[in-house]
Amino acid sequence: MRLLPLVLALSLAAASSAAATASGAWSVLRTVTDAPTAASSDDADTLFCDSWRLSVETANAGPWGAIPVRCVAFVQAYMEGPRYASDSAVAAADSLAFASGALAAAEAGAAKPAWVFDVDETLLTNAPYYAVNGWGSQEFNETSFDEWVDAAKAPALPSSLKLYKELQGLGFHIILLTGRTEFQRNSTEANLLFAGYQSWEKLILRQPSDIGKTAVLYKSERRAAMEAEGFKILGNSGDQWSDLIGPPMATRSFKLPNPMYFIS
Ligand SMILES: *[C@@H]1O[C@H](CO)[C@@H](O)[C@H](O)[C@H]1NC(C)=O
Ligand SMILES: *[C@@H]1O[C@H](CO)[C@@H](O)[C@H](O)[C@H]1NC(C)=O
Repeated sequence: MRLLPLVLALSLAAASSAAATASGAWSVLRTVTDAPTAASSDDADTLFCDSWRLSVETANAGPWGAIPVRCVAFVQAYMEGPRYASDSAVAAADSLAFASGALAAAEAGAAKPAWVFDVDETLLTNAPYYAVNGWGSQEFNETSFDEWVDAAKAPALPSSLKLYKELQGLGFHIILLTGRTEFQRNSTEANLLFAGYQSWEKLILRQPSDIGKTAVLYKSERRAAMEAEGFKILGNSGDQWSDLIGPPMATRSFKLPNPMYFIS
């Protein structure tokens, strides 16, 4: 009986410490403010630009032109540092996790399982071009970008190359669907081979009749044609929402990061 007061005291102490933890958690929530402040102007740019990046990745921002001038250093640090590689690698890992299960489920059906990849900022990275063209802060220069495409020296996005090979190993039909034009077929093929990509099922480029169509319309029409040819599009990887949305959509779509430009 002499123990009872001690047990009671201990359980009261436990209860009050649980209450302290809970009130600690609530006090953290109370510090969220609608007027965020940063210690320095550099920090303020990072704070703003990271939020800006979230808004463009989620498409909350809607259509946009150039990146904000104050975000050039942020975008450069994002693209050249580990963050771009890490975000891309997680997207690729999520894709692969889905792919194996999806293939097993689809094997019962007659359709040919397919994975659609975009090219620019998906299989290939144009970071070396944007590094000398303001990281998306300058107006798009079609002449200089076409020269870069013709040079056919864009490197692979490493996590996409790995995913590409893994999907091929699983037995997916790989279809490349790009906004580049038919006139750029040779340089695009040369660049893909240079970067380590091989044995794609088809490479679809914009035909003269596609010029002027939004990417959403052009790419949706081509996905519909793939399905009519007997492909079941299980996965689709692209850095733009316009690579992914519009009927028919893949069973799962995977958005890769791109804070440099927007295509509708
Ligand atoms: C666009 O790129 C071309 C080729 O590099 C260059 O000659 C031209 O001055 C550029 N245009 C602008 C507006 O920067
Ligand atoms: C593309 O390559 C093929 C075969 O090498 C060649 O016949 C054709 O002229 C090239 N096309 C262009 C636009 O350079």
